[in-house]
Amino acid sequence: MIFCISFLALFFSSYTITPTSSTSGSLQDDFINCLHKNTNVDFSLEQTFFTPGKNVSVFNEVLESTAQNLRFLARSMPKPVFIFNPTDESHVQASIICSKKLGVHIRVRSGGHDYEGLSYVSEIEKPFIVMDLSKLRKINVNIRDNSAWVQAGATVGELYYRIAEKSKVHGFPAGLCTSLGIGGHITGGAYGSMMRKYGLGGDNVIDASIVDAKGKLLNRSSMGEDMFWAIRGGGGASFGTILAWKIKLVPVPKTVTVFTVTKTLEQDVGNKILSKWQVVADKLVEELFIRVIFNVAENNGSKTVTMSYNALFLGNKGMLMKVMNKSFPELGLTSSDCVQMSWIESTVYISGFPSETPTSILLQGKSPNPKINFKAKSDFVKNPIPESGLIGMFSKLLKEDSPSMIWSPYGGRMSEVPESEIPFPHRKGVIFKILYVTIWPNSDKRPSRHINWIRDMYSYMMPYVSSNPRQSYVNYRDLDLGQNMKNTKSNFKKAQVWGTNYFKGNFDRLVRIKSKVDPDNFFRHEQSIPLLPVQG
Ligand SMILES: Cc1cc2nc3c(=O)[nH]c(=O)nc-3n(C[C@H](O)[C@H](O)[C@H](O)COP(=O)(O)OP(=O)(O)OC[C@H]3O[C@@H](n4cnc5c(N)ncnc54)[C@H](O)[C@@H]3O)c2cc1C
Ligand SMILES: *[C@@H]1O[C@H](CO)[C@@H](O)[C@H](O)[C@H]1NC(C)=O
Ligand SMILES: *[C@@H]1O[C@H](CO)[C@@H](O)[C@H](O)[C@H]1NC(C)=O
Ligand SMILES: *[C@@H]1O[C@H](CO)[C@@H](O)[C@H](O)[C@H]1NC(C)=O
Ligand SMILES: *[C@@H]1O[C@H](CO)[C@@H](O)[C@H](O)[C@H]1NC(C)=O
Repeated sequence: MIFCISFLALFFSSYTITPTSSTSGSLQDDFINCLHKNTNVDFSLEQTFFTPGKNVSVFNEVLESTAQNLRFLARSMPKPVFIFNPTDESHVQASIICSKKLGVHIRVRSGGHDYEGLSYVSEIEKPFIVMDLSKLRKINVNIRDNSAWVQAGATVGELYYRIAEKSKVHGFPAGLCTSLGIGGHITGGAYGSMMRKYGLGGDNVIDASIVDAKGKLLNRSSMGEDMFWAIRGGGGASFGTILAWKIKLVPVPKTVTVFTVTKTLEQDVGNKILSKWQVVADKLVEELFIRVIFNVAENNGSKTVTMSYNALFLGNKGMLMKVMNKSFPELGLTSSDCVQMSWIESTVYISGFPSETPTSILLQGKSPNPKINFKAKSDFVKNPIPESGLIGMFSKLLKEDSPSMIWSPYGGRMSEVPESEIPFPHRKGVIFKILYVTIWPNSDKRPSRHINWIRDMYSYMMPYVSSNPRQSYVNYRDLDLGQNMKNTKSNFKKAQVWGTNYFKGNFDRLVRIKSKVDPDNFFRHEQSIPLLPVQG
């Protein structure tokens, strides 16, 4: 209560000292005037409106705050005319009404992790503004009915923390990186270390609060089952702006076990361990998630590839040792490799924070990694990659400065959910997903060589991964997809390429729903779901 009162006091004082100039007729003035007409809840201009003209260092700080990819913060990148941070849900409704009225393009940002920077940069529309939801981050956990309402601007780390605060035996199966914004994250599916047991974050959503293209506030029953289907995996910013998700909590044991065992190429002669992992990863008990993180490292003056087997087991050390001895003895896991902890501690560990980091780090919305330029791509693997394929893959990794890959195991619950249950279609038959990443610092003089490297790696891998369509994860957005359709002028035909990569047969249904709920294509970006082409 004290918190609310001091917040109100702050709000009134800043309101009275900030005069609203309404005569200049500039875009932000028009926008502010329009907002005032469309909401009853006032907002402090000082704390919610950021323009380069007012104070460029504050503007940059807000723009950069949650943006994860330095590539899209470069000087050469287009910048929003202003950034608005709504402090009340009615401000989101008003923003949509006003940007429509004033004809200004709007980008919505929750956690800022978009791989192609689509939540804070538009390379196709000018001018554009950014609505940043980071001030809408309330979390309401209800242990009695196993659910929680989470506002879009909350991070998954905050959500995990708030759940654990109320119960040591409840959790939620979403992303491994704890700085992800729940708003954007769930719109693409949202996988994490409990996916083999419980599926995706998107599989565990039971209601949502969303603002549609008319500025109307909708919930599951008022939006209808088609739209409710589309928003749980059809990708961000195509159907509306999510204000909050209602999620279903899942049971977790009081004690879980984690380990990370790292092998170099030299320590895995003939790829015996990696090959065995490919055979067992999706067939292990669903309580066990072992991913493989590939990096390039110096080893005695020469380069090698390291493979870290990074795992969460929903059970104790003794049970884990039995499972590993039976199913994956090649890894040589020992009892001393394993650490028992609570589920909430495991989220800090798996996210990559140094050991002993207190769980309160989750409330800071921070990523353990510094911001860096990166380009990434994804693939899904349905047959183990043969030794001959692995050899070429390793030699490509060794040619790049700072490449990495993460192989995430499927199977378990993931293979039981039908492909059309939600828009995310990568289910039965997938052994694992590949994430390819390459990173480089700002000082790098030739960034294009890294982009070329990852494109070359992606084409090398073609024979070993899913085909017809080659499947990709929409939350690992990749604007290269569909670009090989150079000979077609039809944007819809290009969209069918990436649409089928991301959604397989679900793409057609997404297009039909998009055409119904947003016929003016108000919510759009480089890879938003397109409208049905006009016949004729
Ligand atoms: C370091 C890192 C680690 C990652 N780890 C994982 C992982 O473990 N598991 C996983 O599944 N994915 C992971 N991802 C991918 C991540 O799920 C996606 O980037 C996701 O879109 C991020 O959501 P966000 O809100 O943080 O991003 P944003 O950049 O804010 O948004 C992403 C997209 O959604 C739109 N959007 C944002 N908020 C809303 C809203 N409220 N309503 C409608 N549309 C909205 C944006 O306009 C944009 O198009 C990771 C990404 C990074 C950079
Ligand atoms: C911008 O804001 C910062 C932080 O509030 C302040 O230190 C700085 O003096 C301001 N700059 C200008 C030009 O007003
Ligand atoms: C959904 O919204 C409708 C209309 O505003 C309302 O009547 C209904 O109670 C809401 N349903 C839930 C479950 O909140
Ligand atoms: C590095 O080389 C030395 C000497 O050849 C060897 O003993 C050591 O095991 C090597 N280290 C690694 C990590 O391979
Ligand atoms: C693994 O199982 C074998 C029998 O299959 C047994 O002899 C051995 O002691 C077990 N090792 C561990 C570490 O449990």
